Order: sequence, then structure tokens, then C-alpha cells
Amino acid sequence: MQRRNFLSNLWKGAVTLIAAAGAWTTWDLLRPVSAGATGRVRAVSPDAVPEGGVIEIRAARAYLVKIDDQITAISEKCTHLGCRVPYCDSSSQFECPCHGSVFNRLGEFQAGPAPRGLDRYAVEVGEDGLLYIDTDTLEDGPAPGVDTLNEPPTGPSCTEGSH
Ligand code: FES
Repeated sequence: MQRRNFLSNLWKGAVTLIAAAGAWTTWDLLRPVSAGATGRVRAVSPDAVPEGGVIEIRAARAYLVKIDDQITAISEKCTHLGCRVPYCDSSSQFECPCHGSVFNRLGEFQAGPAPRGLDRYAVEVGEDGLLYIDTDTLEDGPAPGVDTLNEPPTGPSCTEGSH
């Protein structure tokens, strides 16, 4: 009888642990973007942003994107309801896990309920040669229909079927 109780409690504990881990993962994925650091956030050297690539600057809750040697700082916050929008390496697009909005590498609107592209921060090179993101200066993302990149997805979506 004692062994049965022990196994029953062990089983309940494992189920509780799995449920808690699942809840945490869901919350972590879908939570609205919290405020990052405010003001000027020191990022990286311009050379550290790969041409055609995307790097995340967590402290600013932003991504840096370099296209044709031009660096753009893109907000992580979805313009629909504020979820954090991750970059999908396989499709080379930003894909919101909450309601399926999709943005190209420049944050330009591609699909979904978002009213516009991802918003942009001012970014400049400081005296020390590093990039600084001004999180107090936020510009609305491009209107739907603006697609200067004109780049189709490079592979499978990361969120397809998950919403
Ligand atoms: S919050 Fe991103 S699509 Fe709704």
C-alpha cells in the first residue's frame, strides 16, 4: 500500500511539474513585450551586424538588421497586440506567435491582423564607434503594402500551425 501511495504521489508530482513547465513556456512565448532599458542603449559594432542578417539587442527589445550596408533598428513588439515577435531563421521573416502576423526582414508587414509593419527606433554610431539605439525615439512601422525588400520567405515558417 505504501509503495502504491509513493508511486501515486510521484506521478502527481511529475504531472504538476510538466504542467508548470508547459505554462511557463507558453507564458514566455506569448507574453507582451516588457519595457526594456530606456534611453540610449549601447548595442554592438556596425561590423557585428551581418549583411542580410538579424541580431537581437535584448536590452533595447529590438533587432538590428543590415541590408545594403544600411542598419535599421526594429522593435520586437508586434503592432497588433504587443506580443514579442521572434525572427524565424528558416523563413527569414519575423513571425508573431500570438495571431500570426508576419513581417519581412525589414519589419515590413506581410500578413496577419497587425495594422502596420514593426515600429523602428532611431539608431546611430556613437563616438566609440558602436551602435546606439534610442528607445525613446520610436517611429511607426511602414504601412501595409510597403515592401521595399520584396523578398519571399526563404523556407518553412516557424509558427505555421501553432496558432
Ligand atoms: S500580437 Fe502579433 S499578431 Fe496579434
